[in-house]
Amino acid sequence: MPTTRADGAAPPDTADLTRLSRAAADCTGCGLYRAATQTVFGEGPRRAEILIAGEQPGDQEDRQGRPFVGPAGRLLDEALAEVGFEREALYVTNVVKHFKFTERGKRRIHEKPSRTEVVACRPWLVAELRAVRPRLLLLLGATAAQSVYGTAFRITRQRGEPLAPPDELAGLFGVAVATVHPSAVLRAPDRETARTVFVADLRAARER
Ligand code: URA
Repeated sequence: MPTTRADGAAPPDTADLTRLSRAAADCTGCGLYRAATQTVFGEGPRRAEILIAGEQPGDQEDRQGRPFVGPAGRLLDEALAEVGFEREALYVTNVVKHFKFTERGKRRIHEKPSRTEVVACRPWLVAELRAVRPRLLLLLGATAAQSVYGTAFRITRQRGEPLAPPDELAGLFGVAVATVHPSAVLRAPDRETARTVFVADLRAARER
């Protein structure tokens, strides 16, 4: 079964998350699979009411093969718990499913995925949305938000706003809300304030 083409990912036509995840493991739809350890597919229940999408796996996620298990994931888990979300009840994924990095000595430094890589990977996100059909899509950071709403989307202007699905994703989720990425909170000069605002965004999203 071909899972990729030169122009991006080509997921099988199924709503079975296990089959999708297996197919994604062999994805060569863009060049990122060459340096990454493995595909990091989403995880969580098929009936999750909330789907959270981040940018791409980081160093720890690439090694462990699971999304949001490194420092950003710990911050996300704490913030989710603080507003009363249980991570196990949510479907958690990334819009790009391979780690992109540059090597500096022994360290692997995160590199932002290009628009071409985001677009190449988008069919996997669409397949996950088609399988889960969440009521709320929570987009963490500009790359995730722009994967769904296009490059004109600005987190600074539109964070926290309820967003209807774009026409091509109509029916695949109820409403989306975008906020900052937890890594941005970790990097913020005033981390406590950034964290408070992030938690407030999650709380507002929960109330929706
Ligand atoms: N950052 C992300 O966007 N996703 C992860 O899984 C980890 C860090």
